[in-house]
Parts: sequence; C-alpha cells; structure tokens
Amino acid sequence: MLYSIHTLKSISNHLLPRIAEIHLSDAGLLSKLGYPFVLRYFENAIKDERAFGFYAQEEETKEIMGFSLASPEPSSLTSKLTKDKGWFIRNILKVIFTRPAAFFQMVISSVTIRGQMYESNTIECVYFTVDEKFRGRGLGRALQKALMDEGRKRGYKKIYASVETWNIASLKATQANGFKIIKTFQEGIYHRHRLESEL
Ligand SMILES: CC(C)(COP(=O)(O)OP(=O)(O)OC[C@H]1O[C@@H](n2cnc3c(N)ncnc32)[C@H](O)[C@@H]1OP(=O)(O)O)[C@@H](O)C(=O)NCCC(=O)NCCS
Repeated sequence: MLYSIHTLKSISNHLLPRIAEIHLSDAGLLSKLGYPFVLRYFENAIKDERAFGFYAQEEETKEIMGFSLASPEPSSLTSKLTKDKGWFIRNILKVIFTRPAAFFQMVISSVTIRGQMYESNTIECVYFTVDEKFRGRGLGRALQKALMDEGRKRGYKKIYASVETWNIASLKATQANGFKIIKTFQEGIYHRHRLESEL
C-alpha cells in the first residue's frame, strides 16, 4: 500500500466532501449531527489558524484514504459551527426533529468539553479516521503520529485524546503511539478513556 501524507491545509476544496464522507464512519457526535455539520466543521478546521492536520493519499489512484486533525483548542472548532447563525438554526432544527438524541448529546458534550481545561503547550488529537478499506495496515497510527511530530515541531509539550472504551482499533493505535490512559469517564452516551502522551 503506497501512500503519501499531506497537510490538511493544502487540500483542495473539492476534496473536502471526501474527508467528510470518511469522517462519517467515526461513531462520535459530529457524525451523529449529520453530513452538513461534518462538512462545515472541516471547512472551518482547514481555515483555523491553530488547528492542523494531515491526509493520506494513495499513490496510484490518488484516492484519499484517511485523515487526522489536532488543535490546542478543540472547542473553538465546535463553536465555529454556530458562527453563521442562519445556517446553524436551519440545520440544528432538522437535527432536533429527526435525531433529538444527537441534539441532547451535543448539549452534554459541549458542557463536558468546556470543563476540560487545556493547559498551554498542549494539543488534542481531535479526530483520526481511516476509510474502512484501508484499515488495519498502520495508516491510522501513521496519521496520528504525524500530528505528534508536527505538534512537537510547533513547540507543544503534550497531546491528549479521548477514545471510546469499545474502540479497540483506536486504542491500540493510540497506545502504540505512546499514549497512556489517565482516566475513564462517562459523557452522555459515551464511555471514554482520556489518554495523554508527552511530545
Ligand atoms: C481508529 C482507526 C483510525 C485506526 O486506523 P487503522 O489504520 O486501522 O489503524 P492501525 O492499522 O494503525 O492500527 C490499528 C490497530 O488496531 C488493531 N485492530 C484493528 N481493528 C481491530 C479490531 N476490530 N479488534 C482488535 N484490534 C483491531 C490493528 O490490528 C492494529 O493493531 P496492531 O498495530 O497491534 O496490529 C480506524 O479504525 C477508524 O477510522 N475507525 C473509525 C473512526 C475512529 O474510531 N477514529 C478514532 C476516534 S478516537
């Protein structure tokens, strides 16, 4: 499997729907809110000054295989979803009527995220996702490692991640990258491990 890794900020706009599509296989809240939220989130993330990430592209077919994203302040990426008030109200009303559980989880998660104190000099591995057909061959681990290398270059000292306790693939990749579990907690429907690694 030959691939190259590129910075997410260099991605062409027409490829962002592919990133959003890959992201939808993540079981987290953003996916539950639906495609419009996922696409908007990544449109904002690539423009965000402090967030950074990577995507992997297959050498031969140029297909995007997966991506990773980190930020020193993940809650600012989430709150950008509400910036265009008209867009947000239209889309969140659809969620309230079609998937009320996702809406309630959003409220719980936003409170939990606000309660997570971010020390200066630390980043969060916000997302890393690999298209199903390319999983199990080290790509997820490589994409997360790229975040760690870049974070270190930018002078950050520590990286955090939250992983659902059932998510063995993510836990294995994250622990292979040197993360250690520091606590386990409940966030609405999510039972998660909180992990950290020095950079
Ligand atoms: C998590 C994810 C990015 C891992 O990507 P990947 O390319 O498959 O990861 P890697 O191949 O680098 O490593 C995965 C490890 O988990 C193992 N693994 C994969 N699926 C597994 C499963 N169902 N049960 C047990 N182990 C599993 C692999 O064998 C590998 O372990 P190893 O290094 O000891 O061989 C991918 O599964 C994914 O996109 N999941 C959906 C999104 C998601 O959950 N993202 C993380 C949110 S915290």
